[in-house]
Amino acid sequence: MQTIAILGAGLMGHGIAQVFAGAGHQVRIFDQDPAVLSSVPDRIHANLVPFVELGLVAQDQVEPLLHSVTLCSNLADLYQGADVIIEAVSENLELKRKVFAQMESVVPPRTILASNTSAISIGLIAEGLAHPERVLGTHFWNPPQVVPCVEVIRAQDTDPAVVDRVMELLTGAGKHPVRVEKDVPGFVGNRMQHALWREAIYLVEQGIASPEDVDAVVRLGFGLRLAFLGPLQTADLAGLDLTRAVHQDLLPHLDCAKGPSPLLERKLAQGHLGAKAGQGFHSWTPESLAAVKQNRDRTLLKILREVLPSKQI
Ligand SMILES: NC(=O)c1ccc[n+]([C@@H]2O[C@H](COP(=O)([O-])OP(=O)(O)OC[C@H]3O[C@@H](n4cnc5c(N)ncnc54)[C@H](O)[C@@H]3O)[C@@H](O)[C@H]2O)c1
Repeated sequence: MQTIAILGAGLMGHGIAQVFAGAGHQVRIFDQDPAVLSSVPDRIHANLVPFVELGLVAQDQVEPLLHSVTLCSNLADLYQGADVIIEAVSENLELKRKVFAQMESVVPPRTILASNTSAISIGLIAEGLAHPERVLGTHFWNPPQVVPCVEVIRAQDTDPAVVDRVMELLTGAGKHPVRVEKDVPGFVGNRMQHALWREAIYLVEQGIASPEDVDAVVRLGFGLRLAFLGPLQTADLAGLDLTRAVHQDLLPHLDCAKGPSPLLERKLAQGHLGAKAGQGFHSWTPESLAAVKQNRDRTLLKILREVLPSKQI
């Protein structure tokens, strides 16, 4: 059992707390916003509903799990005795640098410091620290309590033994960690995800298909098999000769813009910020948004139950 400290109790932080509490670790969590912090037990409790319904967590495990998450009202309490600290504050380099410098000033050099950044270079976050060898990235995917994969990013100065320890910790917590050997922007997952989003937005912008149909091609087309077969497995099944032939004909026609699409910029200028604004590429109501969120975890857990050994859910 280890003590895991989580800085930032927002969307990701509270779910990461649930992951480690569920694996029997002591978890401490802090957020600068007292309302966000005090809502952690209720949010974890709500997250657990589909796990209990599907028999993945026993009802009598719920209270002990909630009790192993300590809400800390200050940073001294958060960092006290922590083996690993996971930073999940907002995606802002200056903020992350500030909180890492602050952590380093109070915790011993043996404490592992991890960032959950989506795309910021771990090396940049660790720049100027006295002990960058214990800093690495642990990129969980939303919702972290459901999605098994965690990218573990080794920056230039990270000690490989620290990567090994975190891989072991995550495996023990039922996650599927993958090593990212170079600290490149977007790591592995967000590079692929945003290549797909760029092309999806381009297809809509060019009038080639509606947002509904673009999403349907992914959800009800090739996306269906992605939980079972990754893109490189699929390329192997298709044949690398066919893959090359398609790339020769197709790649020159794909969008390769180096910045956000003009359609995306127009939507932002109109205030169409997505589900939170009621309008993005699709229209949203509070009810439709709640339904998607409610069904998402249950559906993903059912799929995972089929494709993964039970230990990894
Ligand atoms: N949302 C996602 O889908 C997702 C997925 C993977 C990774 N991430 C990354 O995880 C991190 C957190 O994202 P999120 O979606 O949970 O954001 P969020 O806005 O839900 O939560 C961030 C929390 O950090 C708190 N915070 C800000 N500064 C703080 C400080 N100095 N001390 C303590 N708390 C502070 C805020 O009050 C807020 O509650 C970001 O780096 C983000 O890029 C997000």
